[in-house]
Formats: sequence, C-alpha cells, structure tokens
Amino acid sequence: MRISVIGCGYLGAVHAASMVELGHEVVGIDVDQRKVAALCAGRSPFYEPGFDELLQHSLGSGRLSFSTDVADAAGSRVHFLCVGTPQKHGEYAADMRFVEAAVESLLEVLQPGDLVAGKSTVPVGTAAQLAELVAGKVPGALVAWNPEFLREGFAVRDTLHPDRLVYGLPADPADAATAEALLDEVYAPIVARGTPKVTTDHATAEMVKTAANSFLATKISFINAMAELCEATGADVKQLADAIGYDERIGRRFLNAGLGFGGGCLPKDIRAFMARAGELGADQALTFLREVDNINMRRRIRMVELAREVLDGSLLGKRVAVLGAAFKPDSDDIRDSPALNVAAQLQLQGAVVCVTDPAAVDNSRREWPHLDFAATPEEAAERADAVLVLTEWRQYRELDPVAFGAVVRQKRVLDGRNALDREAWTAAGWTYRALGRRAS
Ligand code: UGA
Repeated sequence: MRISVIGCGYLGAVHAASMVELGHEVVGIDVDQRKVAALCAGRSPFYEPGFDELLQHSLGSGRLSFSTDVADAAGSRVHFLCVGTPQKHGEYAADMRFVEAAVESLLEVLQPGDLVAGKSTVPVGTAAQLAELVAGKVPGALVAWNPEFLREGFAVRDTLHPDRLVYGLPADPADAATAEALLDEVYAPIVARGTPKVTTDHATAEMVKTAANSFLATKISFINAMAELCEATGADVKQLADAIGYDERIGRRFLNAGLGFGGGCLPKDIRAFMARAGELGADQALTFLREVDNINMRRRIRMVELAREVLDGSLLGKRVAVLGAAFKPDSDDIRDSPALNVAAQLQLQGAVVCVTDPAAVDNSRREWPHLDFAATPEEAAERADAVLVLTEWRQYRELDPVAFGAVVRQKRVLDGRNALDREAWTAAGWTYRALGRRAS
C-alpha cells in the first residue's frame, strides 16, 4: 500500500521506516529541511537504538522516501498524522498548531476513499472535528484515530511489535468498516500474529492514549510520594517497591522511585488532559493529576536539597558532576529533562556543574549553554566534591566505584534513579545517598 507519514520526529520517522518493513511504500513529509535531508541520507536526526539500521534497510528497499513537499503525499491511501502536540506557552493545554497545519495541507492531496489516521496525542474531540472538516472538503475521505504507545529508546521494537492496536473509527458503520479494513491491511503482519486489537470510536481512542500516560505518571508519582514518606520515617522505598510489586495487581514496572518523569510526553500529556477536562466541565475528575505533577516536581527540588546536605550545607563553589542529561537512558531527548533541571538549579545556586551524557551533550549544550559539559564521566567528575547520577544509562550503572573513586576529590555519590549497587559503592568508600532511602 502507498502510505504517507506527516511529521518525521521520533514517532513519525520510526513509523515511516517501520511501515516499509511491513511491506508498504512510504513517503515521510516534514517541514524541517535539515531533518528531511538527514533522513534521505540514511542518518537519523535523533538518537534511537536500532533506528539507523532500520532506516538504511528501508531506504535500501527503494520503498521509502522523505520530502518537505506535501504534494508528494498524493496517491497515498493512508495518511498518518505524526506531528507534535507540545504544551502551549503559559498554559496547560496542548498546542494544536502543527496538527491543524498538517491537516490543512493534506486537504490539497486527499482523495475520496483515502484515510487520515491520527497518531499524535490530541485532546479528546479532535478527531471528530477533523473528520467533519475533511468530509466537508473531500467527501468520501475518512478519519480514524490510531494512537501510538511507543517508548523512546524502544521505538523500533514498540512500533513493529506493539502490545495492542487501537482503532478509533468513524461513527458511520460502512465508513468504520472501510477504515478498519485499511488499517488491518497496513498492520497485516501485526494483526496476523494475534496482537490484541481494540476497535472503538474516535473519542475513546483519543482517551486511551492520555489515560495510559496519566496512569503511568500516577504510578511513578505514587512511588515517589512513598519515597517522601520513607525519607520521613527511615524506611526504604526500593524494598517497598519490590515488596508491593510482587502483587500482580500492582506490578513492579514503573515503580522506580527517583527523580521522577520528564520528556516530551508524560508531563505535557497530563496537563493537556487536565485542561481538556476543564473545558468539558469535568475538571474535578482529574484534579488528582495536579498532585501527580506536584509530587513529580518536588523530587527535583528535593534532589538539590540532598546535594546541599551532602555538600556540608552549601553549594557555593562546590564542584558537582552530573551523570546523565537525557530525560531517560537510550535517548538524546532533553525535553523537560529532570537531570538538566537539577543541574541548572545547582549551577544557579552557586555550584560549578559539569554534565556528561552518552548521547545528549550536543542537545544540552544548545539549550543550556551556561553549564559545563564533558565527554566522559571521568572527565566530568575530575576533582568533584559530589557525583550525581541523574539518568540511569547502563554505562553509569556499571561504573566501577573503586576506579572512579580515584578521579574525584570527595567520594560522595547521589543516586537520583536508585540505579546503582549501593553495597558496591559504599564498600569502595563512597558516601551513598538516594531519594527515599536511608543514608549509608
Ligand atoms: C511514554 C509512554 O511510556 C509511552 O507508552 C508513550 O507512547 C509515550 O510516552 C508517548 O506519549 O509518546 P516515554 O516518554 O518515551 O514514553 O518514556 P517513559 O519510558 O514512559 O518514561 C517517562 C519518564 O518517566 C522518564 O523520565 C523516566 O525516567 C521516568 N520513569 C519511568 C520513572 O521515573 N520511574 C519509572 O519507574 C519509570
């Protein structure tokens, strides 16, 4: 099938190349010329494990192209909307400009029988509105909502092996059947392997995505609230998470206490969800998400306080090494990164901060030019008074505390992600501190 993918960020670029793997002919459209040039040359514009190989393989098949001209989307049967919906400046609501612009431009190439399949995370009600617009301009063209649940760092695997498919279909039964058949054809190998599929209406499909991300955010903030209590009582949040996680109804995943969630999705999605609930007169239903957000933000402040405590009550002039800048490991994404937030707070309060990250230094330097950056943990930690591990890259989890101890001035480590082997670090003579755990 001929397919177009509008928007070639983390979501769209991976989706485009993955659809080629599934046997289709795909054109990826993006307004950013540099991004399109890189993708055409087989270079990923972002760090995502396995994506370079997938991209080159797909380009090699001759069935993948990228363009800045939406006219090249003409002739495609399904058009996937993969543009971003960031938070509006100064507001909780999602900024829908990119979705609106993408649909506006698509209207010029849409043909009756084509399907616009939205993947972007949008406020509930968007698909129905777009469906009306599309039907008014191109009678016979349809809109479906087909949310995406990929995680950065696992984007390729999650796209090719999703744990479920969700189709939000048009209200008219005949249109719904057409849209479902088209999506089934797109995802044929995934459907054939028995992947659970939920077919529903537009609104439910849109809400599935925001509800899922809100649940994940709530789970993280729940364990971080427990961490606050552990700090007040001397209990241990890691053991607490292990113990409650054995209950299958609760589950251990997403119960890692630490610096909390960041990135381009969870923080802005819970805020946009609250804003939308307010517009719908149902704001009370989601007021708990404000607390989820508050708990999350408090962890960043607590981390700075913990650093001050460890540094004998003052940050002034202290050399601090920050290991990790990306919002999570295996990504170069620094959007709302808790690690950089803490690094910047420390710097603004008088510490001399040097940040390192295996993939995100270039992005970080552009956004935070006043911070110092280093290529390796050893360089960042040279003569440091404290080392903060704020993103749990494998390289940092596997650091040898004995050898690393020779680099620093003071062997003090703050484990912002509860990811280090506490016993090994303390045995090597380090003062080890972590959120939600006793000092040792
Ligand atoms: C998230 C969702 O997990 C995806 O399912 C969804 O498709 C995606 O948003 C999206 O909306 O596009 P992602 O932002 O890539 O994916 O990252 P997550 O793996 O969810 O992690 C989010 C943040 O939570 C990270 O900062 C991570 O460090 C933090 N986290 C995660 C914790 O603090 N504790 C945990 O136990 C798990």
